[in-house]
Amino acid sequence: MSSRISKFYQQSPEERLKKVAEFVGLSEDDQKILTGETKFTLEQADRMIENVIGTLPIPIGTAVNFKVNGKDVLVPMATEEPSVVAAVSHAAKYTYDVGGFHTSYSGSIMRAQVQVTGLKDPYFAMAKIYEAKEELLAFCNEQDPTLVSFGGGAIDLEVKMVQGDNEKNEKMVVAHLIVDTKDAMGANAVNTMAEACAPLIEKITGGQVVLRILSNLADRRVVRARAVFKDPFNGDQEAVDRFIYAYELAANDPYRATTHNKGVMNGITAVVLATGNDTRAIEAGAHAYAARSGTYEPLTRYERGENGDIVGTIELPLAVGLVGGATQSHPVAKTATKILNVKTAEELSGIIASIGLAQNFAGLKALATEGIQKGHMKLHARNMAAMAGAKPEQVDEVVKIAAEEESFTFDAIKKIVERLQS
Ligand code: MEV
Repeated sequence: MSSRISKFYQQSPEERLKKVAEFVGLSEDDQKILTGETKFTLEQADRMIENVIGTLPIPIGTAVNFKVNGKDVLVPMATEEPSVVAAVSHAAKYTYDVGGFHTSYSGSIMRAQVQVTGLKDPYFAMAKIYEAKEELLAFCNEQDPTLVSFGGGAIDLEVKMVQGDNEKNEKMVVAHLIVDTKDAMGANAVNTMAEACAPLIEKITGGQVVLRILSNLADRRVVRARAVFKDPFNGDQEAVDRFIYAYELAANDPYRATTHNKGVMNGITAVVLATGNDTRAIEAGAHAYAARSGTYEPLTRYERGENGDIVGTIELPLAVGLVGGATQSHPVAKTATKILNVKTAEELSGIIASIGLAQNFAGLKALATEGIQKGHMKLHARNMAAMAGAKPEQVDEVVKIAAEEESFTFDAIKKIVERLQS
């Protein structure tokens, strides 16, 4: 089936869910979990975190028009922000007929840091850790036979020297355990290994281990995506120029790059959240990666293509998984992930990166032309129409009139509702 669905936004939530269910084969039970008919209970919530008193429902929208590595996919996005789902679906339209998104992945490689302090001879200690590499990796792998049975586990060791900031001017040695976590995000696996091997590292070096924790700068778990956006400005060369100017500001100014990347993360975080992955891990990693040159830079790049096309790329670390954590324990996240129909963390990452690129493209396209407020207010108008007392069957008509009158203030919408109801 094709993910290229026109006027999806005009359907009711029930009709949309039916389409999505047909597309991926969701059962009746799955559908009830998504709609909330089967409740996410307080008991379930209480098993996830501490001191639970309630839950916060966030809408899940579905992005359409995505083709990633030749496969059509519908993408669940959990977000409270209007325009985000519409924007990615709009952007993906320009890519669909010219191949969609293509991605690559550096592997599910995470790193944990083991910090060794109190060393008189830090360079000597560093050499000793490197000598013990095979012993350390074997010891780490003994901690997680399941991961090893899936072909993952500790695969390498890097040792860094870090200058401390203390009055003794002491250097610290930091051992990086490099671990292939396969289809898990991997925090538990690498933290267990880091904690377990700390006494061994102390014995090898004679120092004292302080921190034993993964790094969220997952720079060996990098995803890249590219897409051609086919003539998005209908041959308007001036608009293409404005788009490229907008990108160039992000490429050369951290004030703009931050907002630019916020737009990227609007898309990325929504899918990360919908699939029950760790949004903070992804955000910390993305922003640190964006600043890896010493200057904060955009996560996406744009160039001029042929005949008014714009070609875009994105590159960022994405430590997301399909096993462990809320991806499986949260019934809604588990069901949302089913919609993606992915088997590996690599596939999931490729889709998330594509969403980030699409989101950012849509943001720049709007900013380079009419600005974002018009589209945003149009979507927000549905909410305002309901708040102003429009009956459900009147909402579309109210928004249509408001768009014709180019007037999206609450007062204007209220007057339209009153007119329709008088
Ligand atoms: C709003 O949530 C995101 C944007 O500000 C991103 C951008 O400026 O590129 C529209």
